[in-house]
Amino acid sequence: MINVMQPSLGKEELAAIEKVFTSNWIGKGALVKEFEEKYASHLGSTPDRVLSTNCCSEGLFSSMHLLDIKPGDEVILPTVSFIGAGNAVCANGSKMVLCDVDRRTLNARAEDIEKCITKKTKAILLLHYGGIPCDMDSIMALADSYGLRVIEDCAAGVCSHYKGKALGTFGDIGMWSFDAMKILVCGDGAILHFKTPELREKADKWLYFGLEAKSGYENSVAQKWWEFDISSFGHRAIMNNVTAAMALEQFKKLPSFMEKRAAVHKAYDEGLSDLDWIDLPLPIPADCTTSYYFYHIQIKNGKRDELARYLRERGVYTTYRYFPLHRVPGYGVIEGSFPNADYAADNTLCLPLHQSLTKEDVEKVISTIREFGKTC
Ligand SMILES: Cc1ncc(COP(=O)(O)O)c(C=O)c1O
Repeated sequence: MINVMQPSLGKEELAAIEKVFTSNWIGKGALVKEFEEKYASHLGSTPDRVLSTNCCSEGLFSSMHLLDIKPGDEVILPTVSFIGAGNAVCANGSKMVLCDVDRRTLNARAEDIEKCITKKTKAILLLHYGGIPCDMDSIMALADSYGLRVIEDCAAGVCSHYKGKALGTFGDIGMWSFDAMKILVCGDGAILHFKTPELREKADKWLYFGLEAKSGYENSVAQKWWEFDISSFGHRAIMNNVTAAMALEQFKKLPSFMEKRAAVHKAYDEGLSDLDWIDLPLPIPADCTTSYYFYHIQIKNGKRDELARYLRERGVYTTYRYFPLHRVPGYGVIEGSFPNADYAADNTLCLPLHQSLTKEDVEKVISTIREFGKTC
């Protein structure tokens, strides 16, 4: 079976983990700090704005508290969002207001968002679909003009830039996921980026019980290092040295991961571009970069589901992300109309895209799609 997503792990990660085991300290420590520092520099930012946590979903949930979003406040998000984004808003008692997206990129546009703004709107929770940048100039101008907070879900945008600036560093909070299905993986883990060091400071406490002064080694110079105070009833959501050791090794491999993913992307472009029943992903604007997380095609003959099954029966696994939140029954009746997201949900297919794909795998995906075309 050709997987749709797959991590690339090697002996380097194993050796790094072994070192942590023998160090006698597998909890949060120096490796976590090193990873945060390296990631800050990767973003073109500074360590006083960057913090790790145990998963990106925690970042989505915590954003509500960190940005003072209250029950009853409205948060606008694209209906094509990760389920954790919707849950974060609803679990906070806030109102999830969904907007439509661009039909091809599946990203929300400023005009989609603006239609949803009311007096109660507090924040925009953006998703950069598959690491493809949203149009940040127009969205940030809109947010500024209405005084709205911006949260950027860059879960897969580990190497994505908009006009030379790392995605996730435009809004108040940005976040990246390193779970098992992402590009850089460490089991579970995430990085959060904050617009200000003060916000990072607030998050640092919130993600560790709300502790004012940490106990243990960091406080060992104090007379009574076992005493502490809390500033809020915070969570406990941190990375540890085991996951950080993996993340650091994966981090070194990122340039080669990107090279490989770009090559697969190009091979799909070349192998499928003459098929008039498929829309390929739009080219990324020249002043932006993507992480090539998805290669999403759109089937124009209404046979997306048949194609997915045809591929699966022949050993090629595909998927569609993200099932639109307005169609998730658990959220109840959602106001609005979402023609582009509905089109995307019914016609989009994400092809296998990961670093372990061989030339033969890619050729098989292409030839099986072409073969399916002849049956229609
Ligand atoms: C767009 C998006 N945001 C957030 C998340 C949550 O990431 P994590 O698994 O690290 O909680 C995911 C995970 O799939 C995702 O795809």
